[in-house]
Amino acid sequence: MTSSTNLGPATSLIHHGYTPPAGFVAVQPGIFKASTVIFPDTAALRARNWKEKSGYTYGLHGTPTTFTLEERIATLEGGTHALLLPSGLAAIALVDLALLESGDELLIPDNAYGPGKELARNELTRWGITHRFYDPMDAAGLERMIGPKTKLVWLEAPGSVTMEFPDLAALASVSRAKGVTTALDNTWGAGVAFNPFALPGNAAVDISMQALTKYPSGGGDVLMGSVTTRDEALHLRLKFAHMRQGWGVGANDAELVLRSLPTLALRYAAQDRAARTLAEWFVQRSEIARVLHPALPGSPGFAHWQNTCHAAAGLFSVVFDARYASEEVDAFVDALKLFRIGYSWAGPVSLVVPYHVQGMRSQPTPYAGVVVRFSIGFEAVEDLLADLLQALGVAFGAA
Ligand SMILES: Cc1ncc(COP(=O)(O)O)c(C=O)c1O
Repeated sequence: MTSSTNLGPATSLIHHGYTPPAGFVAVQPGIFKASTVIFPDTAALRARNWKEKSGYTYGLHGTPTTFTLEERIATLEGGTHALLLPSGLAAIALVDLALLESGDELLIPDNAYGPGKELARNELTRWGITHRFYDPMDAAGLERMIGPKTKLVWLEAPGSVTMEFPDLAALASVSRAKGVTTALDNTWGAGVAFNPFALPGNAAVDISMQALTKYPSGGGDVLMGSVTTRDEALHLRLKFAHMRQGWGVGANDAELVLRSLPTLALRYAAQDRAARTLAEWFVQRSEIARVLHPALPGSPGFAHWQNTCHAAAGLFSVVFDARYASEEVDAFVDALKLFRIGYSWAGPVSLVVPYHVQGMRSQPTPYAGVVVRFSIGFEAVEDLLADLLQALGVAFGAA
């Protein structure tokens, strides 16, 4: 069918007869790009089933590149099935839209990633899906809140910005005992710090979602999300909604994540080490009222972190003493030279963002001072320490 002889250049360059030999093997998988997928004949067109990974039907439903990434993410998470989405926030939205309907209630940790809470406050509320925020450090309280309308409980470990590490096993168990599906935002754990499908005491979440934007990418240059399960029926529910909503990821972005995955565990360990060194250094500083890092004794939920995890992400927050005004803490942040001001984490560049956490929660937090979150990159720790020290000097005249 595809012969390049007797055809003009326009046609022969589109319908070219050459097929490279099979059997090419390299370190990284190839990149396959498609909206259209070509079928050999009509029988193949009719026989192909988009729900199965036995063949290809359309770019949105999978290519060798996205199938390969899905399989690797499922393995990373300790699950069996994964779906890819164009951002972590889209992955949160997929779970909500696939599992909830009008009249249902959703429970979200009060310290969850903010935009997921905004989705509940806006679109979900307009569609008749109610929500409440629960205290993730109180499993008995969650158990009391779960009612007949509760259909989904989100979990997040640790909490966004304030870094409280919950008793995930207890939260998952009380939800399961009441027949309610749990979905964990596992972006911080990244599939490295703990297995969300094998928590202490035989507990497990039903769904693990990740912003692949962070650790699996590691470059600060890709947006992507995943939703992983160990349950075929639950996976199919999510997969059908994923198909109907038109979620898909580009091959070049998938390839960037595939290229980063082999170094994920090494990067995670290096950023963990550096973050703990800096968090411990901050404990001694008189400007700082509290250091919030789940692996630091005294940090909220430290015992749960110890019981659940064997590693920690390169992320921590410090609470400045309440005697410092917001402008003074801003002056410290502005004086930093290596830490850049920007959202997200797990990339090569260390990042910093100041937060006023009181406005971010439905309940008051115990932190009166400004909270500053640090994401640690790959710079030398001694250079980062020197940068912190000089910025404290600029802002507060400290030695
Ligand atoms: C815990 C957590 N979950 C989800 C997301 C959303 O990921 P994305 O930026 O890919 O939408 C973020 C982003 O900062 C996050 O910190």
